[in-house]
Amino acid sequence: MKKIIVAIDGYSSCGKSTIAKQLAKYAGYTYVDTGAMYRAVALYAIENLGNLGNLECLESLEYLETHIHLSYAPDLCLNGTPVEDKIRSLEVGNMASKISPIPAVRQFLVAQQQAMGQQKGIVMDGRDIGTVVFPNAELKFFLTASPEVRAERRFKELQAKGEQPVFEEVLKDVNERDYRDTHREISPLKQAPDAIVVDNSNMTREQQMEAIYAIFDRHNR
Ligand code: DC
Repeated sequence: MKKIIVAIDGYSSCGKSTIAKQLAKYAGYTYVDTGAMYRAVALYAIENLGNLGNLECLESLEYLETHIHLSYAPDLCLNGTPVEDKIRSLEVGNMASKISPIPAVRQFLVAQQQAMGQQKGIVMDGRDIGTVVFPNAELKFFLTASPEVRAERRFKELQAKGEQPVFEEVLKDVNERDYRDTHREISPLKQAPDAIVVDNSNMTREQQMEAIYAIFDRHNR
């Protein structure tokens, strides 16, 4: 059967990663979470560059290529160390949102993402996959849900991790991140004209996956 590239873009806390991961499993494809790549660079910045300033070195592609090595073993590793359990905090998410508009950071990560798609058979999720990374992807989804529904999901996720979030703060964070993601100059989050929009505010995960599997199967007939 022919292999294709599936691009999944959308707002934060829309369940993109879970959906993309499940679709990859269904299709027998490789799954790539590009948000995790931006989060890994953010973690590097927090641990090595001071949380508030000194981010200028991330503006140099040479600096990034020399100091930041991402690999999969199979989980994401930053300079050889697995980072999955460190990159999901609010702090890293906020830093990821700050460093992701830096052109060199995007250039650095987009090149790696495009290389991963060369053999096709990939499901990649992010913000600019259908617009910038793979504008010719055979199948594109754009996921959305109301900010309140997404804040509720994020709130529960943080609680499950033992954090003690305040709902209003999580909602504010979701809104601020949406604003930054959609208003930045480079590769802002926007729907590709040929993307299929899925608003999952009122859908169960099962309903949503059934719809997505059916669309995927139609594309592979
Ligand atoms: O999907 P996420 O919340 O893990 O993403 C973390 C941050 O990285 C978020 O602020 C958006 C940014 N990002 C991006 O700019 N481009 C991508 N392809 C993926 C994520």
